[in-house]
Amino acid sequence: MKDKIKNAKSIEELQALYTDTFGKNGTMTAKLKTMANLSNDERAVINAENSELRQLFKEKQTELENAALNAKLATEYVDVTLDNEPENRGTLHPLTQSLKELSAIMESFGFTLWTGPEIEDDWHNFTALNTPEYHPARDMQDTFFLENGNVMRTQTSAIQIRAMEKHGAPIKIFAIGSTYRKELDATHSCMFGQMEGLYVDKNITMSDLIGTLRSMLSKFFERDIEIRIRPSYFPFTEPSVEFDMKWGDKWLEMGGAGMVHPNVLKNCNIDPNEYQGFAFGFGWDRMAMIKYGLNDLRKFYDGDIRWLKNSGF
Ligand code: PHE
Repeated sequence: MKDKIKNAKSIEELQALYTDTFGKNGTMTAKLKTMANLSNDERAVINAENSELRQLFKEKQTELENAALNAKLATEYVDVTLDNEPENRGTLHPLTQSLKELSAIMESFGFTLWTGPEIEDDWHNFTALNTPEYHPARDMQDTFFLENGNVMRTQTSAIQIRAMEKHGAPIKIFAIGSTYRKELDATHSCMFGQMEGLYVDKNITMSDLIGTLRSMLSKFFERDIEIRIRPSYFPFTEPSVEFDMKWGDKWLEMGGAGMVHPNVLKNCNIDPNEYQGFAFGFGWDRMAMIKYGLNDLRKFYDGDIRWLKNSGF
């Protein structure tokens, strides 16, 4: 038996031998059963044999297990130098990235994020913004009307009203959100992202507005940005301007701005004799387009994963 144990080639073979020895009908088991009738010397012999065999089985088992492990290690190793399947790592959508960057910039200037609903009532989207019904300026924005008289928010300016109604003055907020208009071409989509800024306090001037716009654009585009303002018209600001930024040798239209119209302040129960402020609004998805060198705004919203991948985001 000892030789058989020593020569066992596998765990299975060893287990069979073990059963033959120590199993119910095993040879050693039989011997142990006879012990009661034997002399002390004879018992000592059997006991010695018993422990010797157990020891042998134990050693052989360890040896066979180690051999099996080594064999496995020799064949099943992981080659860490092998190239992996390319990892499909997710990235943030360029719009999400820009949104986060812009928010961080505005917050660093002391503006607080404010939000509002995308389905807006007439009061917040138009009337309170000094654009009562039949005001010709309503035609500036091709509005989607809902059957109940509400509209798909055409401008984040609606959020100015919500913020001032709730918070009063002084107030310094920005808002980012989707807005909707009936227009569609390469630079316009029915849905686009706007960002609004509003700063109402006791001594706010146009220079604060210009400084804020210039610093914001410079931070976002990570370079010194030159801007210019042109006279314009919005019902809710007076004076009103449009602002452009210099990009290469071109001037790009960025958005609208101005000093908050006294009627707008009054509509929000703020005394225009005590407070004044500036407001601005622009398409932040357009800013993302410029930053990332894209030429079709609609691609942002197609949800085409191939485009996202090929754009290197
Ligand atoms: N809401 C205007 C637009 O959508 C932009 C704007 C915002 C102008 C704030 C002035 C002040 O065109």
